[in-house]
Amino acid sequence: MNTFEAIENRRSIRKFKDTDIPNEVICKIIEAGIKAPSAKNKQPWKFIITKGVEKDKIIAVIEQGVETEKNTVGLLPNRKNLIPAVLNTIKAMKQAPVLLFVFNTEETRFLFQNVSTEEKFVETSNLLSIGASIQNILLAATDLGIASLWICDTVFAYKEICSYFCEKGQLVSAVSLGYSAETPLPIAKKDFNTVVFWRGEPSC
Ligand SMILES: Cc1cc2nc3c(=O)[nH]c(=O)nc-3n(C[C@H](O)[C@H](O)[C@H](O)COP(=O)(O)O)c2cc1C
Repeated sequence: MNTFEAIENRRSIRKFKDTDIPNEVICKIIEAGIKAPSAKNKQPWKFIITKGVEKDKIIAVIEQGVETEKNTVGLLPNRKNLIPAVLNTIKAMKQAPVLLFVFNTEETRFLFQNVSTEEKFVETSNLLSIGASIQNILLAATDLGIASLWICDTVFAYKEICSYFCEKGQLVSAVSLGYSAETPLPIAKKDFNTVVFWRGEPSC
């Protein structure tokens, strides 16, 4: 599969087969993430891989955190309407044999905490670098026949996940990996001409 095919074939998958991914395959996929470009070549990422009992333990922590978020003011008091979607994400996390957590090693404060413009610039650069790394992971997974789901709903259990792992870095995202048990319907992407504009050149 070439890069364009991987880009075309990648979809967010939320139903997974109960089939393990060999550890060598997981490592190969993450290796692709480590090769991503990064601002100032800081490579500001760290990955924690969970499977089996370890995955079950962290998902229990996430479920507890989401329950707290639902029943208290929480971190996102105006986003309680998203909780059903978060529960759906947790369902996918449970099905997928692998759940990866991605940390920003250049920051220790909570994601989105109030920061100065300079700090925001640095934080954004690092987050963009981590985004590139995660996208490499998704495309490498696709290439190897592994389905994936990029997850930011982790923010609904942010403090709980961070306390559980006790890592110095900033939690950015999670990624579920597994063998797909669904064929998602085609998804509409914005039309090229509505998002791409030439300046001073004829269009393609
Ligand atoms: C930064 C980011 C965070 C996401 N977080 C979640 C999530 O928490 N739960 C979920 O089900 N999907 C999540 N997604 C997947 C998107 O919903 C999905 O990419 C989008 O609907 C487009 O579908 P596609 O990936 O199949 O093209 C996330 C995607 C990105 C890029």
